[in-house]
Amino acid sequence: MERPVRTPRRTFRYATRPSLLARSVWLCARHRPASWWRLPLVAAWASQIRRHRRARLEIAGRAYLGYQASLPADAYFGESGVRGALIWLAGADSVLSLGDGVLIGVGVQLAIAAGARLTVGSGTFINPNSRIFCAEGISIGRDCALSWDVEILDFDAHEIGSNGEFRPQSAPVRIGDHVWVGTRAIILKGVEIGDGAIVGAGSVVTRSVPPRAVVAGNPARVVREDVDWRHVPAGSGESDG
Ligand SMILES: CC(C)(COP(=O)(O)OP(=O)(O)OC[C@H]1O[C@@H](n2cnc3c(N)ncnc32)[C@H](O)[C@@H]1OP(=O)(O)O)[C@@H](O)C(=O)NCCC(=O)NCCS
Repeated sequence: MERPVRTPRRTFRYATRPSLLARSVWLCARHRPASWWRLPLVAAWASQIRRHRRARLEIAGRAYLGYQASLPADAYFGESGVRGALIWLAGADSVLSLGDGVLIGVGVQLAIAAGARLTVGSGTFINPNSRIFCAEGISIGRDCALSWDVEILDFDAHEIGSNGEFRPQSAPVRIGDHVWVGTRAIILKGVEIGDGAIVGAGSVVTRSVPPRAVVAGNPARVVREDVDWRHVPAGSGESDG
């Protein structure tokens, strides 16, 4: 059954700030000209998109680029002095596909090589200073929570070999729906993370993770199974009581 995803429509009110509105209109006009007037992208002033002329940016609904905090009551854009987010569609046929309500934090870098595809599902947020480097293919499902300083890469950038035989240095990464990745976790090439899983803070994930498992450590190992988790915004006062 598909899990409903709550998308953060209300953050659009920040588009009434002149600098935010100006940046959003400018980026939408350049990168989504057919529908710029619907503002498919709401972007903080310092946010950048570098796009090869044959690369594609797809947005289903509206995505948010360069938000500052994950505390919804205080969420604001681009006022901390930290530079904005960077989307870098580096080569021909690089594709970035963003679902509705995707939030991309300030300082986040998404770099997608020629011919590679990065997909981020609806309602997913990527907190400030995380970096995703995509040489082949990375897909992140719906309703995922990626914390601060997370790194995801589907390639090694250097080949390892023995007796003159070199192994492939890239393999796609697939992160399912409703996955929570803790701060400073690193997810490496070829990993699949099942729906509902949790990756502990600081973990280095080198092998695939079953659905609803909690993995932690370096290398990450399963420390719990069959868990459920839900997002409780810090400062919201919501808790199990
Ligand atoms: C993974 C996590 C959710 C597990 O929480 P938990 O279920 O309460 O886990 P516990 O504290 O009971 O730990 C279970 C075991 O895993 C180990 N463990 C937990 N988190 C770990 C981590 N990040 N790295 C290494 N080991 C970890 C514990 O030491 C414990 O091992 P033990 O049984 O040998 O003593 C939590 O530790 C964590 O890393 N949270 C991420 C916080 C974060 O980044 N938030 C950002 C919000 S967007």
